[in-house]
Amino acid sequence: MTLNTHRWWRDAVIYQVYVRSFLDSTGDGVGDLAGVRTGLPYLKKLGVDGIWLSPFYPSPQHDHGYDVADHCDVDPLFGDLAEFDLLMTDARRLGVRVLLDIVPNHCSSEHPWFREALESAPGGTARARFHFADGRGPDGAEPPNNWHAMFGGPAWSRVTEQDGTPGQWYLHMFTPEQPDLNWRNPEVGGHFDHVLRFWLDRGVDGFRIDVAAGLYKHPDLPDSPDPEADARTRDSVNPLAWNQPEVHDVWRRWRSLCEEYTAEDGRERLLVGEVSVPTAREHARYVRHDELHQAFFFDLLSAPWNADSFRKVISEAMQDIAGTGSTVTWVLNNHDQVRTVTRYGELGTESSGLGAARARAAALLMLALPGAAYIYQGEELGLPEVVDLPDDVLTDPIFRRTGSRARIRDGCRVPLPWSGHASPFGFTPGAESAKPWLPQPAYFAEYATDRALADTRSFWHLYRDGLQLRSGLPQLGEGELRWLDTPPGVLGFVRGDGLVCAVNFGAAPTPAPVSGTPLLSSGPCAPGVLPGSTAAWWISDSAHP
Ligand code: NOJ
Repeated sequence: MTLNTHRWWRDAVIYQVYVRSFLDSTGDGVGDLAGVRTGLPYLKKLGVDGIWLSPFYPSPQHDHGYDVADHCDVDPLFGDLAEFDLLMTDARRLGVRVLLDIVPNHCSSEHPWFREALESAPGGTARARFHFADGRGPDGAEPPNNWHAMFGGPAWSRVTEQDGTPGQWYLHMFTPEQPDLNWRNPEVGGHFDHVLRFWLDRGVDGFRIDVAAGLYKHPDLPDSPDPEADARTRDSVNPLAWNQPEVHDVWRRWRSLCEEYTAEDGRERLLVGEVSVPTAREHARYVRHDELHQAFFFDLLSAPWNADSFRKVISEAMQDIAGTGSTVTWVLNNHDQVRTVTRYGELGTESSGLGAARARAAALLMLALPGAAYIYQGEELGLPEVVDLPDDVLTDPIFRRTGSRARIRDGCRVPLPWSGHASPFGFTPGAESAKPWLPQPAYFAEYATDRALADTRSFWHLYRDGLQLRSGLPQLGEGELRWLDTPPGVLGFVRGDGLVCAVNFGAAPTPAPVSGTPLLSSGPCAPGVLPGSTAAWWISDSAHP
């Protein structure tokens, strides 16, 4: 493939910026777009190809911006459109691509459409943009069906009609403040075409699509066959609420809209979907050549730390995505998941360093796999999950709705440490600033970016070195992967012309699976040895290792 036809996104490394926790420029304790702009040179130095910005649109912030009240503006909490344009200008100058987070499955209950729906009579056009339905049982006091919301409780809430009587119910697969849009109403699709064009016209390089297996529901909204499983797993397993065939029409429509822009200037716009579906084969349907460019492959993220699980999910992904026209989109962390350092270690404490060693090894593995990769802010610092936030500071609606700390997401969203020895660690600008919106633990001092940059053994240097090698070595990025014969507990594979990556998932050292020139390792390695919980890259001495 010549450089001209290379499609940049196929092996891009994108950094997820969770805006409210990245860097605060105003002193209100919340990160903002000006903070992102200040941080761009840091990200450029790290070596990523682009950034994905979590939602910054006007929103009452019930789900930290995933409840959008206006799709075509910036919430004053994060800045304004002029600040956004400045960010785009700087990003363009630095050669950093920018993806926005688009939320098409639902909007905020404060979106003008939903307010209008509440103020209008049942059966009218304003309610037809959402899923309003009469209740069941005497006086319609029971929800229209048995669906559960992902964040706890029933997926339906009842409204009070204008005359003060209990009225219809509306569907919300997440919180009641996030009513689901009715994609069977053409007005909804038309609105989102407008939204995409609004931001593409401002120069963005593409979109991360929230809940991309959602949008359409079964037209009759029938009962779920297994409501207990829906409630227990709180995953998108209800086959009538998720992964409906019609959703693929939306991705075809959005792809051709993006391609209109590409045809104008030759610059490819990227659509990356948050796709949670039961199998890799189903997943592959979302990245067919005329649909999404990419979809996060979450099976790697959920694989337990052992060689067999990792090999299985990697092989399945490679097999099922091959032939779709896409590449696999690998991810180990995001703003919804327990951070790898903690997930791979002993939950609660990270004193042994085991989780950190494994997270470093996983990072080298991910960066050596064929396809694209996403890094979540703080991952490059080796931040652990903050597991001991007190109940009264938690903001995740999952906690509010379920009363349980299981699966809450505040711990991976604590504002980043940049410098200094005490909170706010340079996250906010001065002594007069408000406290960071979530408290930073004292031990964040060890992870601050200034320390990370100064210490060549830091996570930051590992990521930076990995990214640098990746951009210079033709073997990495897109292409084939060939597994090596390795002892149990060790994974090894060859990329292209003799680049070998191996990971020792066990605790005991093992002989290096190849003889060659070491390029990079996630921990100290004596010649010819791969220590436990360590990954390394080599250029093999032999053409066919
Ligand atoms: C997935 C997002 O990643 C998550 O943060 C959000 O709460 C839900 N979608 C609902 O929009």
